[in-house]
Amino acid sequence: MEKIRLGVNIDHVATVRNARGENYPSPLRAAKIAEASGADSVTIHLREDRRHIKDNDLKIIKRKIKIPLNLEIAATNEMVNIALKRKPPFICIVPEKRREITTEGGLNLNYKRNYLKKIIGKFKSKKIRVSLFIEPSIKDIKLSKFLKADCIEIHTGKICRLINLGKNTKKELLKIKKAVNFANEIGLEVHAGHGLNYKSAKILSSLRGIKEFNIGHFLIGESIFIGLSKCINNFKKILK
Ligand code: PXP
Repeated sequence: MEKIRLGVNIDHVATVRNARGENYPSPLRAAKIAEASGADSVTIHLREDRRHIKDNDLKIIKRKIKIPLNLEIAATNEMVNIALKRKPPFICIVPEKRREITTEGGLNLNYKRNYLKKIIGKFKSKKIRVSLFIEPSIKDIKLSKFLKADCIEIHTGKICRLINLGKNTKKELLKIKKAVNFANEIGLEVHAGHGLNYKSAKILSSLRGIKEFNIGHFLIGESIFIGLSKCINNFKKILK
C-alpha cells in the first residue's frame, strides 16, 4: 500500500518571527528540520498581505530544500506571476479573504472559473503539480476534474472542529468519505488539510484514499511543548 505523505506547513514559524520584526525563528530552519525529520514536503502560503511568509522566504526555501515545496496561493495575477517565476514543484490554489484569520473554507470554483482553467494550464505546462483546496463536495470535485487539476485538497476545518468539540462527526465523515472515493474514482489525487491534530489526522487517515495531509498550526504549536523543556534547560546551563 502507498504510504500517506505528510506536508509540513511552516507559516506560523514566520508568524512568530514577524511578531518581533526580527529574523528569528527562521522558516528556513524549520523547513530544514521538517526535511531532516521525514516530512514529504514543506508547505508555505504566500498571502496577499504577507502576514507570515514573505517573498524572500519563498525564494530561499525553494532554493535550499530538497523535498518538494508546496506553495499555496490565491488565484490572482500577482501570485500567479510569482509562482511562475519561482516554479515550486507543487501549487495549491486557495481562497483568500483579507480579513480572515485563516483560510475559512474551500474555493468557489465557479467564481473565476475560466481564469482558474487558464492558470492551471499554465502551471501544468511548467510541470507543476496543481491542487485545488475545496470543500468535500461532489460538484466541486467534478469541476476540479473539468478544470484539469491534478489533485484536490479537502478542507477539513469543519470535521476537525466537530472532533475538538466532542460533537457527532458521522454526517461530515460520511461526506468526506464519499468525496474521497469519488475523487479517486475519477482520477484525482486526494489531499486533506486544515485544523488537523493527532486525533483528527488519525481518524481521517483511516478512511483510505487520502494520499497527503498538510498540517501546520497544531504541529507548530505542539512543537513548542515538545521542545520547551529542552530550551529552558539550555538557558539554565548557560546561566548557572
Ligand atoms: N492546507 C491548506 C490548503 C491550507 O490553506 C492550510 C492553512 O490554512 C493548511 C492545509 C494547514 O492548516 P492548519 O494550519 O490548520 O494545519
